[in-house]
Amino acid sequence: LKKITTHQLQEMKNRNEKISMLTAYDFSMAKLVDAAGVDVILVGDSASNVMAGHETTLPITLDQMIYHASAVVRAVERALVVVDIPFGSYQGNSSEALRSSIRIMKESGGHAVKMEGGAEIQESIKRILSAGIPVMGHLGLTPQSIYKFGTYTVRAKEEAEAEKLIEDAKILEECGCFSIVLEKIPAELAKRVAEEVNIPIIGIGAGPYVDGQVLVLHDLLGITTEFKPRFLRHYARLDTIITEAIGKYVGDVKNVDFPNEDEMY
Ligand code: KIV
Ligand code: NA
Repeated sequence: LKKITTHQLQEMKNRNEKISMLTAYDFSMAKLVDAAGVDVILVGDSASNVMAGHETTLPITLDQMIYHASAVVRAVERALVVVDIPFGSYQGNSSEALRSSIRIMKESGGHAVKMEGGAEIQESIKRILSAGIPVMGHLGLTPQSIYKFGTYTVRAKEEAEAEKLIEDAKILEECGCFSIVLEKIPAELAKRVAEEVNIPIIGIGAGPYVDGQVLVLHDLLGITTEFKPRFLRHYARLDTIITEAIGKYVGDVKNVDFPNEDEMY
């Protein structure tokens, strides 16, 4: 089984093959995601929401991200594993950003880091790249800035923000980022970015005219169902499958149907 590299993602864009990306936060799920053939596994700071139940991605710590990432890395044989640098561990200055990235690479074994922002973090990106660590960018709705935006609605609908986004994407490419995630922006704007920038553009809520798609695993599987933005497709409804299975178990325990004579020593 051949491992996916950042170079292969570039080749995929060059030959017009779409890139599939999905989050994972633990060993067991990452094993399934990898076996299903996903190209890039993102250990997203959405772990803060999905794994820990926080309202935003802000509270998750670098230590917690490393814990999730190391579990994912132990499971993965093929996918490229990208790890989010969490809020508060790179915005200070480029030394802090480099230190956090090195900790992620050393302690989790991840293959690349992802960070939110454009021009304002370019020094940090260059410093991380100069240490040999691949960097993925993230523009548009960047959840670590949710208190600045004030809402999770679609970004860059206005001309000024759209132009800044295109500028930022070009800066990220010039800095040497191997790819960029675009979150919740108009499909036509995402299309422009994917055309004007040579590196692979991965969308979430950014329409089909980009080089790949990413979703949060638990959203795709229908485990987390309170959250249903229009860009999300539920490929399963595991919430009912799981609660029905567990409900049966509870019933069987109450009725002493479990364990039966084959299930005891
Ligand atoms: O943390 C995350 O899950 C992400 C993706 C939604 C891109 O950053
Ligand atoms: Na994230």
